[in-house]
Parts: sequence; structure tokens; C-alpha cells
Amino acid sequence: MKDVHIAILGFGNVGMGVWEILMNNGSKVDCILGRKVEIKKILVRDINKKRSIDVPDGIFTDNIDEIISDDDIDIVVELMGGIQPAFQYIKESLKNGKHVVTANKAVMATRGRELLHLANEAGRELRYEASVAGGIPIINTLNKDLAANNIEEITGIINGTTNYILTQMTTRGMSFDEALKQAQDMGYAEADPSSDIEGEDAAFKLSILTSIAFGVQVSPEKIPTHGITNVTEMEIEYARQLGYTVKLLSKVKKVDKKLELYVHPALVPSNHPLAAVSDEFNALFIRGDAVGDLMLYGKGAGSLPTGSAVLSDIMYIIDDMDENNDRVIKRRKYNGDLEAVGEGKGEYYIRFQVADEPGVLGMISTTFGKYGISLASVVQQGHGEKSVPLVFVTHKVERTNLDAALKAIENCDFIEDIACILKVEKFKRFFK
Ligand code: NAP
Ligand code: HSE
Repeated sequence: MKDVHIAILGFGNVGMGVWEILMNNGSKVDCILGRKVEIKKILVRDINKKRSIDVPDGIFTDNIDEIISDDDIDIVVELMGGIQPAFQYIKESLKNGKHVVTANKAVMATRGRELLHLANEAGRELRYEASVAGGIPIINTLNKDLAANNIEEITGIINGTTNYILTQMTTRGMSFDEALKQAQDMGYAEADPSSDIEGEDAAFKLSILTSIAFGVQVSPEKIPTHGITNVTEMEIEYARQLGYTVKLLSKVKKVDKKLELYVHPALVPSNHPLAAVSDEFNALFIRGDAVGDLMLYGKGAGSLPTGSAVLSDIMYIIDDMDENNDRVIKRRKYNGDLEAVGEGKGEYYIRFQVADEPGVLGMISTTFGKYGISLASVVQQGHGEKSVPLVFVTHKVERTNLDAALKAIENCDFIEDIACILKVEKFKRFFK
């Protein structure tokens, strides 16, 4: 059978991972597929840049036209990141009859619907397994293996960089900045790491998961998103005292005809399996009406784990090419029945920094009471300093109510800062 020719757009962490896997395991891949897979071109910005992997002459190019107009290239693998020019290159590749694989969650979350439609029209495949949770095969699992289920909930840790930072802060007392620097050095972070630490990257991924699992397109900016930039050593220590571990959780849950969803730093019971998910590892809990509770766990970032997901997409496409090269892939219909409604009700941890004066705790509690917010516990440990931490944990409350109460409290003279808000997730229903 004819060799399959691939072009890779981008030769950074993931691009090099794909190259390395094909160099090491290429004969196995070729044997399974019954044909040879060859990387014909690699698009980069700077073809003269010194790279840690040697690539034969003539493969690097900085001209996308050499790829898009080459009829001999069957599959374009987009691993550059960012929305433009990635969107344009994917679009042109599909229009020129090429199948496409991408690891780009920004493009798939914001323009994915358009691109999938285009792929349908062109009778070509567009696959994006690596765009969510790195090496974990979550997209194919939802699309195929769990397709007979009605999905009820997905809760997960789906950003490796923030999980790495929180793990280092918790287990090694490392500072936020130091841990972020390490995550960047290891190739986990996005080109602009604010996307990781502000929760945007997780919101992109949650948007993709929501569209696959629930058939509803929720644009990432409509997802209530809170990053980890306000999480300090104090939160890590208070969490420990209360029996919890701090994690950045992403959750989507069907409640009647509505979808509650959020990305939020949260207190997870320290004896829950999610609390044990460390470093760049990701995990996803899925509840389906037939399968019940299911957990997937693995490396959510990094060169080889992500490369593994990319290779899986490439191999699926080649299998499909052998069946019928012109097959129009059936896509899941977007039903739009479910309405996304925000965070829903939750329990919250709030740390205030306040003046150490008599009556402050009482005044805050009274204001919470006025807004119908019931309190589960209060921790006040500092004394005699200019500003002391005062931590409240609420019972279940609507986020809008909490925000209204905090707005009223914020204006009081004794408040220096509403320093950190975390969700408290108790997971009472897990593994039932
Ligand atoms: P990266 O290390 O920053 O590499 C990006 C590569 O793309 C570089 O080789 C760069 O060329 C090339 N590039 C960027 N803009 C370009 C342009 N306009 N024209 C030509 N080439 C361009 O990125 P990465 O970490 O591999 O991530 C790639 C994609 O995978 C992103 O969408 C990311 O979200 C996704 N992803 C990453 C991970 C991970 O663990 N890193 C995991 C899952 C998904 P030069 O080398 O010449 O600069
Ligand atoms: N920056 C992302 C993360 C890469 O840290 O999870 C994987 O998508």
C-alpha cells in the first residue's frame, strides 16, 4: 500500500514528541497500519534555529504553501498553538483535501464547530485527541466508547501546569513563581503561561468536553473561570488543617435541563483520589447513566504523552483511509437542548485579610446572614498584626448571592482584601 505522508506544523515540545515517537516506534506503527508513515515536511518560524533533535535536510520549511499545495501530503498535524494562523492553516489544509490532526484547544474551543463542519463538507477528518488532557484518551472515549451513555457529569483536573504548581507548593513548600518556572522548563505550560494559571486553558478544554459529552456548544468565555493566582501558602496550610488539598477543578454537570459548569480552584477532601493526582498528571471522573462512575488518569502535558495522543489520531485516520478515503465522517449533532447556567450552588472557602479589631468577625457573619448565607466554620488564627487572615467556610449558596454579600463586605473599613475564594467539593456521590 502507498506510504502516508505527513506534514507537521510546529516543532516545539509536542512536535518533537511526535517525531521522537515515530523514530523510536515507527516500525511498530507501520506494521500495525500495513504501510509506512513518513514525515515529509515540518513548518517552523525559524528554519535556522538550533534544535535539540537533528532532522534531515529539506524537511524544515517556513513556507506553509509548500505544504498546503503539495498533493503528496495526506495528513497535516497542527502543533503550533494559538488561534491564528493555526485556524487558517487547518482550514486551508481541509479545503485542499488533507486530513488534519491538532492538539490546539484554543482553536477547537473557539472555532472548532466551524472547522468540523468544513471537514464534513470536504469529506476529511479533523481529530483533536491531544487538545484535552494530553496523553489521556478522553475524546475518543467520550465519542466512541461511551457513546451509548447519557453523560451526567465530568469533573477533572485538566491543566498540568497548575496541577504541577499546586503540587510543588503543597508537597515541597515551593513558591508559586518557582514552580511555574519549572513547569515552563519541562514544556507543560502554554507559550503564554497566563492562559494556564488564569484558568483559560482549562476553560478551553472544558468547552471541548462539554460539546462532545452534552452536544452543547458553550464558548469558553461563558464558562465561570477562576485561576490559581490568588492561591498562597496560606490556602495550602488552611486546606491541610481542614482535611483538604487545593486543586484546580473543571466541572460540568447536568441538572435537569441545565448545565452547571466552572473552572475553579477548590478544596478536595485529602482522601479523595483527585487529591492524589500530582504534578503534570490529569484525571477525569465521568458519570454516565449506563457505565456509572469512571476515572481516567494519566499525564496531561509533556512532549511524549501528548505526542502519543497525536499519533493515535494519525493512526485512526489512516485506518479510516483504508476503509474509504472519501467517507464523510458522521459528526455528533449539536442538540442545544441544555442551557449553560453558570456555577450553580456550591460551598465556598473565603479568606479575608482584616484589621485585627474587636467585632470584625461578628460584622462579617451578620452580613453573610443578611444575604441568607449560612456558615459551616470560621478560622481566625493571627493576632496583633496590622492585618490578619480570617477564613469562612459556607454551606451551599448560589454564587450570585455570595458575590453580592462580598460586595457589601468589601466596602467596610476593616477589610483589607478578599484574598482568596475556593470552592469546597465534598464528592459525596462519587463511586456510588
Ligand atoms: P511550542 O513548544 O511553543 O512549539 C510551537 C512550535 O510552533 C514551534 O516550533 C514554533 O516554531 C512553531 N510555530 C509557532 N507559530 C508559528 C507560525 N506562525 N508559523 C510557523 N511555525 C510556528 O508549543 P507546544 O508546547 O509544542 O504546543 C503546541 C500545541 O500543542 C499547542 O496548541 C498546545 O496548546 C498544545 N498542547 C501542548 C501540550 C504540552 O504539554 N506542551 C499538551 C497538550 C496540547 P519555532 O520553533 O521556529 O519557534
Ligand atoms: N498547558 C497545558 C497544561 C498543556 O498545562 O495542561 C496541555 O494541554
